[in-house]
Amino acid sequence: MKVLVTGGAGYIGSHTCVSLSDSGYDVVIVDNLCNSSIGMVKGVEELIGRKLPFYQVDICNENELDAVFEKEQIDAVLHFAALKAVGESLEKPDLYHRNNVGGTEVLLKVMKKFAVDKLVFSSSCTVYGQPEIIPVNEDAPMLPAESPYGQTKQDCEKLISSSGLNSALLRYFNPIGAHPSGRIGELPIGVPNNLIPFLCQAVAGLKDELVVFGDDYPTDDGSCVRDYLHVCDLAEAHVAALEQLPHGIRAYNLGTGSGTSVLGVINAFEESTGESVPFRIGERREGDIVAIWADPSRAEKELGWCASRKVGEALADAWRWQQTL
Ligand code: NAD
Ligand code: UD1
Repeated sequence: MKVLVTGGAGYIGSHTCVSLSDSGYDVVIVDNLCNSSIGMVKGVEELIGRKLPFYQVDICNENELDAVFEKEQIDAVLHFAALKAVGESLEKPDLYHRNNVGGTEVLLKVMKKFAVDKLVFSSSCTVYGQPEIIPVNEDAPMLPAESPYGQTKQDCEKLISSSGLNSALLRYFNPIGAHPSGRIGELPIGVPNNLIPFLCQAVAGLKDELVVFGDDYPTDDGSCVRDYLHVCDLAEAHVAALEQLPHGIRAYNLGTGSGTSVLGVINAFEESTGESVPFRIGERREGDIVAIWADPSRAEKELGWCASRKVGEALADAWRWQQTL
C-alpha cells in the first residue's frame, strides 16, 4: 500500500513516516517546507535505511498535487500539512484559513479525481475547548474555536465529514518528545510557545528561565494540566488508524488518558534527565485551559492502540533531541 504523507517533513509527519515504513508501507512525502527542512526527510531516510519519494509541493497548488497523484499510485493519504502556531493565527487569520482549509479542499478534490478514498486527518483536542467532563471523550461538544487555528481544525473536520471519504479524524492531545535516536524531532522556529520546546531551551541555556503560567488554578498543585503524549506513540496511532480505517467518518482522541501538571512536567524532566530546570512562577496565560486529558478508550477498542511510553521517557527524548540542535 502506498501512502501519501502531506506535511511529512514536519514534526509528527516525519515520525509517522518512520512508523509507516517500519510497518511495511510505501511512503511518499509532500511538503512545501514552510515550517520544516529537508534535513528531516534525510533523517527519516537514515532511520529507515532507504530513500523516499519527496515532492516540495504546496498542497494548495492543485496542478502540482495532481502531478504527484499522476506519478505515484496513491492508495491512502495521511494529512498533516498545516500551519499550527496559535498566536500567529490570531495575527494572520486569512493565511491560516487559506493554507489549512483551502489546502484541505484542494487535497480532497484531487483525491476524488484519482479515486483515493482513504484519509487520516490531524485534528486537535483544541476542538473541545475547556470541556465540562474530564477525561474528554469524542462525544463531548465542540465549543466555539478559541483561535483562527482552532477554527481551521473544526472547518476541516466538517469538510472531511461531508466528503464521502473513509476517514479517521485524529484529535491529538499534547504531542511531545522525539525519536529516541535523536535523529528527528521538533524544529523550533522562532520563540517556541509550547511548554516542552521552551523548557528544553531554558535547560540548554538558550533562554534565561521557563515561566510557569500560573500556580493558582484549581488543580492539585495549582498549575495547568495536560495530556502529554510521546510523538512515537502518536505516530503508531496513525498506522493503527490506517489499518482499521472506518467506513465513513470517525473521530478518535489520541492521548495517554492521564494528565500531568506543568510543575509535574518539570519534576519528571529533572528525574529522567538529571538536569535542573530554571523556572519561576509567572502570571496566567490568557485563554489557557485549566485542565484537559483524553479518554482514549475508543482508540483502544476500535484501533487496538494505546500509548505505551511514559512522560519521563518523552522528556528524556526531547532533551536528547535538543542537544543535537
Ligand atoms: P509541523 O509544522 O512540524 O508540520 C507541518 C508540516 O506541514 C510542515 O513540514 C510544513 O512545512 C508543512 N506544510 C504546511 N503547510 C503546507 C502546505 N500548504 N503545503 C505543503 N506542506 C505544508 O507541525 P506538526 O506539529 O508536525 O503538526 C502536524 C499536524 O498536526 C498539523 O496539522 C497540526 O495542526 C496538527 N496538530 C499538531 C499538534 C502539535 O502539538 N504539534 C497538536 C494537534 C494537532
Ligand atoms: C497549545 C495551543 C493549542 C494546541 C496545543 C497543542 C495555545 C493557546 N493553545 O495548547 O491550540 O492544540 O498547544 O499543540 O497556544 N506553559 C507554561 N510556560 C510556557 C509554555 C507553556 O507554563 O512557557 C504551560 C501552559 O500554560 C499550559 C502547558 O504549559 O498549561 C502546555 O502549554 P502548551 O504547550 O502551549 O500547550 P496547550 O496549552 O495545551
